[in-house]
Amino acid sequence: MDPLFAAPPSSASAATVPPLRWGILATGRIAGVFAEGLKSARAGRLVAVGSRSAESARRFATEHGIDSAHTHATYEGLLADPEVEAVYISTPHPQHAEWVEKAAEAGKHILCEKPLGLNQAEAVAMVGAARRAGVVLMEAFMYRCHPQTAKILALIREGALGTVGLVQANFSFRTEYQAESRLWSNAAGGGGILDVGCYTVSMSRLVAGAAAGRPFLDPVEVSGAGMLHPESGVDVYAAATLKFANGVIAQVASGVGLTLENVVRIHGSAGWLLVPSPWVINREGGASKLILHRAGAAAPEEIVIEGGPLYALEADAFARAVRAGAADVPEMSTDDTLGNLATLDRWRCAIGLTYEAERVVLKSLGPSFPAQ
Ligand SMILES: NC(=O)c1ccc[n+]([C@@H]2O[C@H](COP(=O)([O-])OP(=O)(O)OC[C@H]3O[C@@H](n4cnc5c(N)ncnc54)[C@H](OP(=O)(O)O)[C@@H]3O)[C@@H](O)[C@H]2O)c1
Repeated sequence: MDPLFAAPPSSASAATVPPLRWGILATGRIAGVFAEGLKSARAGRLVAVGSRSAESARRFATEHGIDSAHTHATYEGLLADPEVEAVYISTPHPQHAEWVEKAAEAGKHILCEKPLGLNQAEAVAMVGAARRAGVVLMEAFMYRCHPQTAKILALIREGALGTVGLVQANFSFRTEYQAESRLWSNAAGGGGILDVGCYTVSMSRLVAGAAAGRPFLDPVEVSGAGMLHPESGVDVYAAATLKFANGVIAQVASGVGLTLENVVRIHGSAGWLLVPSPWVINREGGASKLILHRAGAAAPEEIVIEGGPLYALEADAFARAVRAGAADVPEMSTDDTLGNLATLDRWRCAIGLTYEAERVVLKSLGPSFPAQ
């Protein structure tokens, strides 16, 4: 059995799964990374690309070996291409909703970059569009598809940490302020919470859920603090505390203008686990490790996990769900996505961060809905 296909019960062997035919919508930085990852996928191949410009589409097609007949100078052209079964949407966050809904209407299965939408309300509409069209929709949290994440959950479920109490999860990086950059622009949905804080909340909800024997839990309390940029108003860095009904408390932090130690620590009554590389776990594949500190043990235990290339694992998890006729990808369900965005909404609310597009909607509702 191919290890890439060994995990979920619905899986078939690699030989019996016809490769999913992918089109990439938008040719930015992560699109190139995903295209490289697809080259190692067991159940997928890249057949088409769509860009807002003919030149970018051609450049991308040349780099990744896409036939000129499937190189599209518009996103609409890509969605109309009958060769394409699934699209990977990698525009900036504010454009996700429009193109997910259009892709669903075109009958394409959809892997859309994180965060699925700017807020939960957008995501509800996107999930509704996918359901109506009968297509699979997944928010592209690639770390969910890596065996390292499965191992973390297995350790929690088998009680290696005892009763889980505190989760600490960080994801941040430092860039210089650039008004036009998607990371710093309010119009582009910039700031750390949406770009990388979404991972920390996702992991915390996943761990709290594993501790409760559930796929995920949503927090009952969310408080937060953030440093907003004086010009664009997006969060330079921010932190939040999430409290779950089963007693798990998570401290999360993220940013686009601060360096942090990007690790996860999960503390329980019988020990604690360090996840040194929780997010971008080996793009090229290979070994990663977890460090388990059992209470009372003389030394920590190193647990080594072998995994395939990260984005190939993601594409294969998606393809498995499509070929199994599933409504959702079990590694990252749409219910999980909706809970994640609801939590991000609460974190942003706690620090007073709204986006221009949201303020337009609030204003249109009249004076009883104060718009910032
Ligand atoms: N999962 C991961 O590891 C990961 C890593 C990085 C980013 N991401 C996510 O992926 C998405 C894209 O990030 P990125 O870093 O790849 O961004 P990027 O380099 O800026 O690329 C975004 C692309 O979107 C297209 N686009 C459509 N409308 C646009 C607009 N109004 N302004 C600018 N570009 C527009 C452009 O492609 P065309 O010119 O071809 O149309 C552009 O190249 C974000 O949602 C981000 O959160 C995920």
